[in-house]
Amino acid sequence: MIDLGIGQTENCLFSSEEVKCSALKVINHSNNEAFQYAPEEGLYRLRVEIAKWLTNKTKMEVLYKDILITNGASHALELILKMMVPKGGTIIIEDPTYFFALEIFKDWDLNIITVGLTDGGIDVGEIEKICKKRKIDLVYTIPFNHNPTGITANKKTINKLKMLADKFDFYVASDEVYRFVGDPQPQSMYTGHEQRIFSIGSFSKILGPGFRLGWINASDQNISDLVKCGVLISGGGVSPLMSLILSNMLETGKVDSICKKLNYFYDERRERLIDVFSKNLPIHVKFYPPTGGFFAWLEIDSEISIDKIRENLIEKSVDIINGSQFSLNKNFSNCLRLGFTFYPPSQLEYACKEICLAIKKVNI
Ligand SMILES: Cc1ncc(COP(=O)(O)O)c(C=O)c1O
Repeated sequence: MIDLGIGQTENCLFSSEEVKCSALKVINHSNNEAFQYAPEEGLYRLRVEIAKWLTNKTKMEVLYKDILITNGASHALELILKMMVPKGGTIIIEDPTYFFALEIFKDWDLNIITVGLTDGGIDVGEIEKICKKRKIDLVYTIPFNHNPTGITANKKTINKLKMLADKFDFYVASDEVYRFVGDPQPQSMYTGHEQRIFSIGSFSKILGPGFRLGWINASDQNISDLVKCGVLISGGGVSPLMSLILSNMLETGKVDSICKKLNYFYDERRERLIDVFSKNLPIHVKFYPPTGGFFAWLEIDSEISIDKIRENLIEKSVDIINGSQFSLNKNFSNCLRLGFTFYPPSQLEYACKEICLAIKKVNI
């Protein structure tokens, strides 16, 4: 079965040799320091290396004081909700959005309001209207290579969102896990001075989710509020040993070479998918050609049953995921999210062609 519901990296693309080499080096030379607790903000060396790496990538200075190490983006989001949003608070999220973020939100006593996406990112006009009527505590957005739609927010949207955050006093949790997947997005939402912005990054989409390491880039004042969290006070910074290995990988340029290699494979797969869809999709299907990230989004005529399309596809050993799973209110049942990073181009091409055929067949 080729399951395009999967949004992950293919196992054979991970770089185990590079990790092994860095692990041996740091364990042999660390005086066993890496087996100790780390400071709440995370291992100093990793914060410094991430700051340097981001500065080099974006040509804009990132300070290590503005970096907090987390167990990936999921942990970062949970930490921001826990420490910055009052119980019973109100947040705005995109519809559709990353489905497991919905699971994180469920753990908290929150009022959730959804707003749509435009071609230029989250609907900031809608946010402004809501803010005029009620207090909003936080906006969660995925500005770059959005999951599930692949949309990237334009500068105008990002600037307006920041302006609204200041005007109406809400925080923004900007989930930027796909920022370095595909066409580079030079600037994060947080650019070194904003008091209401938290930019979230993760090595899950750069090296592999098994690292379970990510970061929050925010003002040092906001970072010091986040580290008042009991779990960090008790446990110290997350994963010191893995952090040390990753520091070495950043220092020696391995992260950049792995990131480049993965992007090469992702680009090839993405281009294959775009090629098949641009030649074979029926015209009534709206296709958003992605420029990066892991996903493509198809919007099909609402008269056509996605379940029927899926039944046809299962017979051809292809599976898909219904767009409604990415919506708090189960909207987008006429949409499909297709992950293009998990299968080699030939299998992806087969699956995409079958999807086009199944849509045509069900449409007759
Ligand atoms: C938008 C988005 N945010 C966060 C995550 C999870 O990231 P992490 O593995 O760093 O927790 C994912 C994973 O698919 C994602 O798509």
